Amino acid sequence: MHGKIRVLFAVSEVYPLIKTGGLADVGHSLPHALDRVGADVRLVMPAYRAVLEQTASMKAIGWLTIQGAERQLEVRILEASAAEISVPLWLVDCASLFDRPGNPYLRADGGDWHDNAERFTVFSRVIAQLAADRLETGWLPDVVHCNDWQTGLVPAFLSQQRQRPKTVFTIHNLSYGGHYGPDEFHRLHLPWRWWDVDGMEFYGGFSMLKAGIVFADEVTTVSPTYAREICTADFGCGLQGVLQVNRHKLHGILNGIDEGVWNPETDSLLPAHYSAQRRQPGKSINKRALLQHFGLSCDEKSDHVPLFGMVGRLVQQKGVDLILDALPRLLVQTEACFVFVGSGQSEYEQRLRAFADQYPRRIGVYVGYDEKLAHLVEAGADMFLMPSRFEPCGLNQMYSLRYGTPPIVYRTGGLADTVFDADDVHVDRKVANGFVFDELSVDGLIDAVSRAIHLFGQTRRWQTLQRTGMHQSFGWEHSAMIYLSLYQGAALPQAHE
Ligand code: ADP
Ligand code: GLC
Repeated sequence: MHGKIRVLFAVSEVYPLIKTGGLADVGHSLPHALDRVGADVRLVMPAYRAVLEQTASMKAIGWLTIQGAERQLEVRILEASAAEISVPLWLVDCASLFDRPGNPYLRADGGDWHDNAERFTVFSRVIAQLAADRLETGWLPDVVHCNDWQTGLVPAFLSQQRQRPKTVFTIHNLSYGGHYGPDEFHRLHLPWRWWDVDGMEFYGGFSMLKAGIVFADEVTTVSPTYAREICTADFGCGLQGVLQVNRHKLHGILNGIDEGVWNPETDSLLPAHYSAQRRQPGKSINKRALLQHFGLSCDEKSDHVPLFGMVGRLVQQKGVDLILDALPRLLVQTEACFVFVGSGQSEYEQRLRAFADQYPRRIGVYVGYDEKLAHLVEAGADMFLMPSRFEPCGLNQMYSLRYGTPPIVYRTGGLADTVFDADDVHVDRKVANGFVFDELSVDGLIDAVSRAIHLFGQTRRWQTLQRTGMHQSFGWEHSAMIYLSLYQGAALPQAHE
């Protein structure tokens, strides 16, 4: 291969243009990291309304006629520039599918957009056309890197081409499958030979995620532990058999974080800065700001009262129910305070709000999405709660480690790969950086929280724990190099039992 390797990076959300979770963070930070390690990267995503509103100097680089659901669609490809994006950005502009307000996948009432199957089939068809340089731009990728079910059909479409780039498919979360029925399959004009157990057929419907797994040349997921877990019935979401068969091409590559955006020394969203060497007074100023933001008790004593924070999607995956069930006991047995920032299932939102109403000086809740507040929680809390039932990688625990806010996690997926338990030996040896529990239960969580509160009282050892996490490196350099090797055809370790 001559010159830089060319990578078309396809993803359905990119920070700061549009974000529902960690996928957007990776959709931003990974292509930029690949660029830094020497790849020639182009980023392609749908032109949602929010994206069009934030992009400048757009240039149409061509038009494609694409098969939709029982109709042909004219799609324009825009090359755009946007703040904080320094790799070439291509937008798939098809107003009838993407020019809508709000969430990329959901209506305002929380239900799926009715035409998601069509929207992401069209997106995938466009990517396959761009990968073949149908627009004759002169840029032909060596690799198409697809992410999650929204781009799962790309490797399938590309398999129809005789000369095609290599395809890499990354699973960020197996529990979102892009599963649709036979009617959609028919309406979208997908070839019936793919309707097969060895193709994308899945329990009487079809799965875009399965298509990605089956048709891609290489499949990755976002941590080594999750790569092993998804080959089992407990974590495989029904796809464990397919993953086992494809184990030879399945690799776990740990996500990195954007150490520019998530840096307590420079974070412009924080009232005060701090570093591993000089945590005070910065960290305490942030804690007070956080307490005040939520109207929680804030006086001389508050520095010594443990403050637990949580940021995230309020869904079953994140173990929100465990926290809710643990709260009554924790409120009686400890003097701790809690802040929650998130949105998701209305049952969880309501229960959290009810706690905040009942304990206005000890519990703060913000239901919604607020990037600035998320940064303040990472910086201002003493500990970060993340008892996820499963966690492909998880970025929040890495952000909290960087911010000197030791995470409390269940031993699963990327949490198991990044958080090391503060048992008696490992704090002083500067190996431990948080609290890990092994029993997925309210008792397991309460035990970890109690251990955290106990260590919080031992100032010197607590500071050692904080420093260990803050000194660790969570940047992308290492993992970006691994992706590069994968693109170039190097043999990587497979996901083992
Ligand atoms: P997931 O992708 O499963 O949601 P991650 O930990 O990988 O979990 O990433 C979550 C990302 O979304 C983080 O950047 C986190 O700060 C952000 N986030 C989640 N919920 C909110 C919210 N309500 N407000 C602000 N940021 C949020
Ligand atoms: C998904 C996963 C999360 C991961 C993120 C980015 O949303 O739930 O664990 O960190 O993708 O890969």
